Amino acid sequence: MALTNWQQLHGSHFAGSRALVTGGAGFIGSHLTEALLDLGAEVVVIDDLSGGDVVNFADYKERAGDRLRFVEGSILDEALLKELTTSGGGVRYVFHQAALGSVPRSVAEPVKFHQVNATGTLNVLEAARAADVQRVMFAASSSAYGDSEVLPKIETMPALPRSPYAANKVYDECLCRAYACSYGLDTACLRYFNIFGPRQNANSAYAAVIAAFAKDLLANKRPTIFGDGEQSRDFTFVDNAVHANLLAARCTKKIEGEVMNVACGQRVTVNQLAATMAGLYGVPELTPIHQDERAGDVKHSLADLSKIRATIGYEPLVGFEDGLAPTCAWYRETMLG
Ligand SMILES: NC(=O)c1ccc[n+]([C@@H]2O[C@H](COP(=O)([O-])OP(=O)(O)OC[C@H]3O[C@@H](n4cnc5c(N)ncnc54)[C@H](O)[C@@H]3O)[C@@H](O)[C@H]2O)c1
Repeated sequence: MALTNWQQLHGSHFAGSRALVTGGAGFIGSHLTEALLDLGAEVVVIDDLSGGDVVNFADYKERAGDRLRFVEGSILDEALLKELTTSGGGVRYVFHQAALGSVPRSVAEPVKFHQVNATGTLNVLEAARAADVQRVMFAASSSAYGDSEVLPKIETMPALPRSPYAANKVYDECLCRAYACSYGLDTACLRYFNIFGPRQNANSAYAAVIAAFAKDLLANKRPTIFGDGEQSRDFTFVDNAVHANLLAARCTKKIEGEVMNVACGQRVTVNQLAATMAGLYGVPELTPIHQDERAGDVKHSLADLSKIRATIGYEPLVGFEDGLAPTCAWYRETMLG
């Protein structure tokens, strides 16, 4: 499924090592799990399936054999996390992807988001600390930058969360840094910018924009844009996020909770996105319908990649358009058969 040859980029680094992927049945987590398995790692996945689906393992479950262990459970279950980080000699890496992940839903359900995204992350760090894990990679979010008009976003800018979700993610970054400083548990905070690709859920009221547009266009419906559509995003194909995680895990120096942007470094407006996708599906007449802006949404987003380049040697692997075409094809295949 990946456009990327992981073996060529990461060789034998992960062969024989054991990793825990929280939220591994979700969109990004399932790609990360697949890459780790293809690189010869053993992967334990914990996911409560509130947003993910075991169907996301279908492409590689068979070839992974018993190197993939899926446990249906929650990161709110401390005893289970302890068992999963320590059993079988313990895990070397934790890739913490589990979270409730929608800005508008967090505005509607702030307490629930705090429990899963803040307390859940605390639990994951506690389990990793007790198990003496080598490094925790945390799925941080570009929403931390808030609505500052300054572009591109640089990690030294202040965190200005505009939603409970963004606030959870900023708190988690602080916690990752604190665990590195207080306990020597090495952590890396990877601020993802609008990740997209196959397996991103389109069937949720809170679906991300590319998934939602695909669903509408394939149903011959005009896609809905919240606001004037001139808001822009640094849309990032999922292989880039996987690559950043693998590079962070491999880094030979301590990362100590540093925050790094993970993106493509290219800005596309939502209007441009809608037009490109309608073109790819051959339905240019399905122009968007505009509705009111949503609370908590930010206007523009574009990443500066200097820090992640310098720290872990990251370069985006797959550009926006190169990732969009196979993503649209995947939605067509899975939705229309
Ligand atoms: N997709 C993006 O553009 C983006 C951007 C910034 C940050 N992130 C972060 O990346 C991570 C992965 O996001 P995704 O897009 O793959 O979303 P996703 O919803 O597909 O994956 C999240 C997974 O976490 C699981 N989960 C939720 N609550 C859980 C709990 N209590 N215990 C165990 N598992 C639980 C869900 O079932 C789901 O499988 C999340 O932390 C998200 O906040 C994503």
